[in-house]
Amino acid sequence: MIETIKTTPYTDQKMGTAGLRKKTKVIMQPNYFENFIQSIFNTIPALNQKSFLIGGDGRYFNKVAIQKIIKIAAANQVKKLYIGQNGLVSTPAGSHIILENKLDGGFILTASHNPGGIGGDFGIKYANATGGQCQPAESQAIYEQTQKINEYKISDMPDIDLSQIGLTRCEDMEIEIIDPIADYIKLMESIFDFNQLRALLKSDFRFVFDAMNGVTGPYGKKLFEEILGAPAGTVIHATPLEDFGGLHPDPNLIYAKPLVDLMFSDNAPDFAAANDGDGDRNMILGRRFFVCPSDSLAILTDHYQTIPAYRNGIFGVAKSAATSMAVKRVAEALKIGYYEVPTGWKYFIHLMDSQRITLCGEESFGTGASHIREKDGIWATLFWLSIIAQTRKSVKDIALDHWKKYGRSYYLRNDFEKIPQETADKLMSDLQNKLPSLIGQTFGSYTVNEAYPFIYNDPVDHTSTQNGLIVHFKDGSRIVYRLSGTGTDGATLRTYIERYVTDDLLENPEDMLKELCGVSRQISEITIRTGKEQPDIIT
Ligand code: G1P
Ligand code: ZN
Repeated sequence: MIETIKTTPYTDQKMGTAGLRKKTKVIMQPNYFENFIQSIFNTIPALNQKSFLIGGDGRYFNKVAIQKIIKIAAANQVKKLYIGQNGLVSTPAGSHIILENKLDGGFILTASHNPGGIGGDFGIKYANATGGQCQPAESQAIYEQTQKINEYKISDMPDIDLSQIGLTRCEDMEIEIIDPIADYIKLMESIFDFNQLRALLKSDFRFVFDAMNGVTGPYGKKLFEEILGAPAGTVIHATPLEDFGGLHPDPNLIYAKPLVDLMFSDNAPDFAAANDGDGDRNMILGRRFFVCPSDSLAILTDHYQTIPAYRNGIFGVAKSAATSMAVKRVAEALKIGYYEVPTGWKYFIHLMDSQRITLCGEESFGTGASHIREKDGIWATLFWLSIIAQTRKSVKDIALDHWKKYGRSYYLRNDFEKIPQETADKLMSDLQNKLPSLIGQTFGSYTVNEAYPFIYNDPVDHTSTQNGLIVHFKDGSRIVYRLSGTGTDGATLRTYIERYVTDDLLENPEDMLKELCGVSRQISEITIRTGKEQPDIIT
């Protein structure tokens, strides 16, 4: 039976950089999740002709949330749902499933790299038929629905068994429980040379893949161990856990510390990669070597001809404004298109769909390509493995060769967390107002030659988006300031700091950027305004 439940709006259901992300307990409030899902359906016409994907990274509340979406979808007369077996689908595989089956959209239940569990975070990434997260106009329309919702529809049918592959129903709606891994691996096989990778992984080359107790564990086991022949145990933290085993499933130097320690130990393997909770982010490490994500994008782009799928040419490359300029130098040398967009993967989608770019990435451990419309951690890992297989060089030597050819952008991100929202908003608006007066000013060894808000004009739908403030110095150094759109606890000020050099290629970024980090704090007045003398997180 279909019930209509009276409800009242919650005021805070605005999607950020990566969908709706909240504390799990916020999502679990009465009708909170139901309101949001019904609000999405309210923006989609002719639901009886529409099919959607549902899956998640396996975090706490994933299965409950999936059953709720099933029942709300059935009550709204959705045509068909595809659901990952046991409720699991990685973000990149989800994008592929939507495209491959020509679905009208999908619900990926994840708070990405944020911790899970009842005390952690939960989230909903809502993708449209592009296979990528919905565009700003769509999220605005959904937000408007959330602000006026007064009822939702839901079926009272019992829960669906998510463990059995095959067809079933809820009310009149068809449901197909699918293998979330097989088609994704086929896609990888259509891009990379699996024979070459097999030869590498079956040799004495030592590789560790850290799934961080997130969704890529089963993908990694199947792909790296079963299909490509890496030794059993290559994939670590391979079982998706509801609370990620208490870990913070964020592949960076801080939260993947045990892996980093291994890679800097005497017993370090040749190569390691880590993926985040939902499998879109990646961190790349060599023996005693960390690859900065901005450099990773530049290095992958420079080696595109290594990969069978790209051998005949690629369109162009794009990066977020906050990402270092390293890839721009590569794009100029290769004479391919180059674009700079706001933070958030959705801005790459128009560039891919209009065949302006093939590759793209952001500083926040995200790299990807136009095979799907999300960033892709396993794809990035396979790309690096392919470069290693082809060049027979260590990760460090690959990076060093790159810097010798192009120079190096030393790069750090400083995050100041849990700032009261009003303090953060005021800091940003005051800083924006004083940008013109900074031009020509000198801070220590750095003189400002440009200072402006970053404004992106989308070449496809002609909308413009402001995202961050850029201060540029005479020597080519840059500082970018922006507020996070994914935080769930107060505001986070992100400061992205970059310095370009053509010698001193193997120094420590902290040393090379010490003065510039101080300059960044001086310009933002962060210490006077928040009392914070140092960032909470440096990545
Ligand atoms: C952060 C990252 C951004 C990424 C997003 C989703 O967003 O900085 O690059 O696209 O997570 O993974 P932010 O919190 O900065 O808005
Ligand atoms: Zn993620």
